[in-house]
Amino acid sequence: MEKTSDKVLALLMNENTYLSGETIGEKLGVSRIAVNKQIKKIVEDGVQIDVCRKGYKLVSSDILTNISLENKFLSNDIDLKVFVNEVESTNNEAKKLYNDFNDNFLYVAPRQLKGRGRLQRQFESNYGGVYMTLCYKPKNLDITHSLKIVLLTGLAVAKTLQKYMQNVSIKWPNDVFVDDKKICGILLESVVSENMTEAIFLGIGINVNNDLGVELENIATSLKLQGVTGVTREQIIVETITTLIDMLEKYQNNGFDTFLEEYTKLSRTINHNVTVNINGEKKSGFALGLSEEGYLMLKTENGVEKIILGDIEV
Ligand code: BTN
Repeated sequence: MEKTSDKVLALLMNENTYLSGETIGEKLGVSRIAVNKQIKKIVEDGVQIDVCRKGYKLVSSDILTNISLENKFLSNDIDLKVFVNEVESTNNEAKKLYNDFNDNFLYVAPRQLKGRGRLQRQFESNYGGVYMTLCYKPKNLDITHSLKIVLLTGLAVAKTLQKYMQNVSIKWPNDVFVDDKKICGILLESVVSENMTEAIFLGIGINVNNDLGVELENIATSLKLQGVTGVTREQIIVETITTLIDMLEKYQNNGFDTFLEEYTKLSRTINHNVTVNINGEKKSGFALGLSEEGYLMLKTENGVEKIILGDIEV
């Protein structure tokens, strides 16, 4: 059922002027006080609303609601349930919910209070960024496909960001970079039963209009910092997830080969001299390409080695 706060937001989105608490209350059949309570909730979710004697008016057009997102997906022929809430981590919420739904769904947060990255790292998740988890239930995939799905997710984000910026690249396996700085991180988790993947949780964090802390400013960037303005989080979410779902369907029918050329072209690792940090041990060499499973084939002085997990140093 549609939340009252979403109904209030929908009314404000349709008007480019101030709406009084009374007017909103009359339209929704609730009291002025109830409207005020909902406005507070909306503001807590990171939506900027100007409040004055004339009433309430949206300041920004960068709004996230489940109804609007679901409608945008439907217009792309994707029937996807969407949740939008401020939470600790969208991956955690998606994992709590996955048993309640047979179909895929998307969990989106305007900000995360305990965003998680790979290797137990923290992922800064301030207002203005995109933080989402796609819970995807594959038809018939065993666990050996996980890494290639991670690679595809990075590719889907990179393809979306390329529409807005130049110099987009992917650091193996799936960090997306712009101009040598990280703009997106991806965290894959899954539920497995007897080697078969029941559900995959594709957690995606993209820096859009969010502020980055000082400690990140030399290594990370955002659409805003790249000078790209006027792009909404909704646009980025719909474009990324639509591309990703289409790619996941194609992957299940035809495998990774269809995407290999595109991934390789966008890679800042393959066909480059790189150093990989594997739990503190460093290996340098020339990245020749990917193995069948999606591992990195690194030509070192000891011969060709398969890198299963590690951080490529920038
Ligand atoms: C990384 O760079 O190490 C991966 C970062 C993944 C962040 C995303 S944001 C949405 C989802 N929820 C989380 O807690 N993490 C992922």
